[in-house]
Amino acid sequence: MGISAEKLPRHVGFIMDGNGRWAQKRGLPRKMGHRAGAEVFKKIADYCREIGIKYVTFYAFSTENWKRPADEVNALMDLFDKYLDDAEEYARRKTRMLFLGDKAPFRESIRQKMLSIEERTREFDSCTVMLAMNYGGRDDIVYAAKRAAELVSSGYMSTDDITEDMFGGLLYTGDAPDVDLVIRPSGEYRLSNFLIWQCAYAEYYFSDVLWPDFTVSDLDRALTAYSDRNRRFGGV
Ligand code: IPE
Ligand code: IPE
Ligand code: MG
Repeated sequence: MGISAEKLPRHVGFIMDGNGRWAQKRGLPRKMGHRAGAEVFKKIADYCREIGIKYVTFYAFSTENWKRPADEVNALMDLFDKYLDDAEEYARRKTRMLFLGDKAPFRESIRQKMLSIEERTREFDSCTVMLAMNYGGRDDIVYAAKRAAELVSSGYMSTDDITEDMFGGLLYTGDAPDVDLVIRPSGEYRLSNFLIWQCAYAEYYFSDVLWPDFTVSDLDRALTAYSDRNRRFGGV
């Protein structure tokens, strides 16, 4: 990967889409696609850390995904339960792990593992991996708005203290920088409620590859495309 450090995005968001179609194409149950997708998550997260991307967010489960048939939701929950046992691994790799979204709807074992991984990796600052689980961009903004309202009603601050920076800090992503690059495989051209505030000035990279087939070479292609973009942020 021949991109200089200053041309690398600071924060990359992955919409891990296409698992179901990947499985269906092979005559397999959709959950097999999720299993294959989880392996790709691990590989891509490792690669991002190796090449020096500081913040990486993976969209794993949206606030809308609860609508899916119960057996698919259950299979996804079993997969999360299993993969969250890798806390040791993240700690060993000195990666800070954060979960974006309301943890309350998850089963107890998953909630406990999420909290313990966040706690055990809190001090690491070279690479932050965020997993968006039960995440929705609108839910994120509503949750932050409620917290801002509480701070005002408790007299801790006034409405004039609500600025873009301050409000951004109340979002699930906290002090993480805005997303620079969103990568969505699977041939869909939409955000699907992913980090809508944080992506206000993001660059987008779409690819037809299904997530379980996504490789580090696909990521290299996305990073190269990103390094050639001219970001203006409204300026000239
Ligand atoms: C993404 O893959 C994973 C989740 C949304 C949990 P999909 O399950 O959406 O796969 P497709 O889009 O149906 O192929
Ligand atoms: C977005 O994928 C959510 C995740 C990848 C977790 P979906 O498959 O749920 O998105 P839509 O329904 O095609 O917009
Ligand atoms: Mg999908």
